Amino acid sequence: MIGRLNHVAIAVPDLDAACEQYRGALGATVGAPQDEPDHGVTVVFVELPNTKIEFLHPLGENSPIAGFLEKNPAGGIHHICYEVDDILAARDRLTTSGARVLGDGEPKIGAHGKPVLFLHPKDFAGTLVELEQA
Ligand code: CO
Repeated sequence: MIGRLNHVAIAVPDLDAACEQYRGALGATVGAPQDEPDHGVTVVFVELPNTKIEFLHPLGENSPIAGFLEKNPAGGIHHICYEVDDILAARDRLTTSGARVLGDGEPKIGAHGKPVLFLHPKDFAGTLVELEQA
């Protein structure tokens, strides 16, 4: 059912430092910061040949990643995102199998303007999984 790895999201306490490290030490193509006020984050995309890395930095109060950074002050992998062809069919298959979809179970428009859902980390090897309809 799942397709390509769309992105790996890394929460970072210092966005400039993370960008400089990836641009400098790793020689990656690093984009410009984009504020996503609806999602409470500033995002930077790192383009790799086969996928993307997304840096997430808190924006405003009540950012959904503020708590994660409190528990992981050096930053860390926040979630991974897999592509699916049909997000409603994917959700129905997952809930039938017993997996928990976060929130009210309805897809939301994610940071890329496409429908997304998040799955409970306890159901997927301790990893927060995002599904994006590609
Ligand atoms: Co994501």
